[in-house]
Amino acid sequence: MKIGVLGAGRMTEALAGRWIEAGHEVFIGGRTPEKAADLAKSLGAAGAGTLREAAAYGDVILLAVLREGLESTLAAAGAGEGTLAGKTVVDVGNSVDTEDWSQVTWEGRSMAERAAELAPGSHVVKAFNLAFSDVWKTPPVYGGRPLAVPFAGAAEGKSVTRKLIQEVGAAPLDAGDLSQTPHLEAMGCVVIRQLFGGAHLGSTFAFLTPDDA
Ligand SMILES: NC(=O)c1ccc[n+]([C@@H]2O[C@H](COP(=O)([O-])OP(=O)(O)OC[C@H]3O[C@@H](n4cnc5c(N)ncnc54)[C@H](OP(=O)(O)O)[C@@H]3O)[C@@H](O)[C@H]2O)c1
Repeated sequence: MKIGVLGAGRMTEALAGRWIEAGHEVFIGGRTPEKAADLAKSLGAAGAGTLREAAAYGDVILLAVLREGLESTLAAAGAGEGTLAGKTVVDVGNSVDTEDWSQVTWEGRSMAERAAELAPGSHVVKAFNLAFSDVWKTPPVYGGRPLAVPFAGAAEGKSVTRKLIQEVGAAPLDAGDLSQTPHLEAMGCVVIRQLFGGAHLGSTFAFLTPDDA
């Protein structure tokens, strides 16, 4: 599978690295081209370049940017012109104000819902937002089981998201459609507050899946 990445930060380093190991071809697009190129080189990615090039490259898109960069990133990727139409966009973003730990929304809509608005025709699915980036660098095991990773979003994007979750050694847990993404982002606020407060960096919500019964 060809994965185009929007964002060249810590989540990309963790997740794209695992998907390259799993045999996917990854192209990293970044706001800062040198940073994207350095990361691509260190991960052994297929290439690096602009956000628009990454949008064109991927059959599936990893959206891994800070909330402050959501709109400019999708604009630079050409999302408003339909470059992401028909593609699954896996959004890992969190949206918390670390001054008062409130959830930042777009008039009540989540970051994932805002991404879906800005990328018409795309299939946005939220996943991987509930644990620190390093958790994804090795197969995450909690309570002796693969970590269950809640994901929510467009039905058309769920099958590929399940596969990508399994390929990091975790267990997919369907949390519903896009309307549930504000809840996943609220849960992200809880996790991030604990991490900032000194909790173990592996802290997350550890669910059991129906298969664990
Ligand atoms: N790090 C974690 O442990 C973690 C865990 C779960 C979820 N998340 C979420 O995942 C997303 C990515 O996190 P990350 O840690 O990978 O972030 P990061 O390393 O800080 O940066 C990711 C990307 O965001 C871009 N960016 C930052 N501010 C921007 C702005 N104002 N305008 C345009 N682009 C901007 C950066 O561009 P440059 O390349 O130019 O710097 C970078 O490519 C965030 O929403 C975060 O909340 C993070």
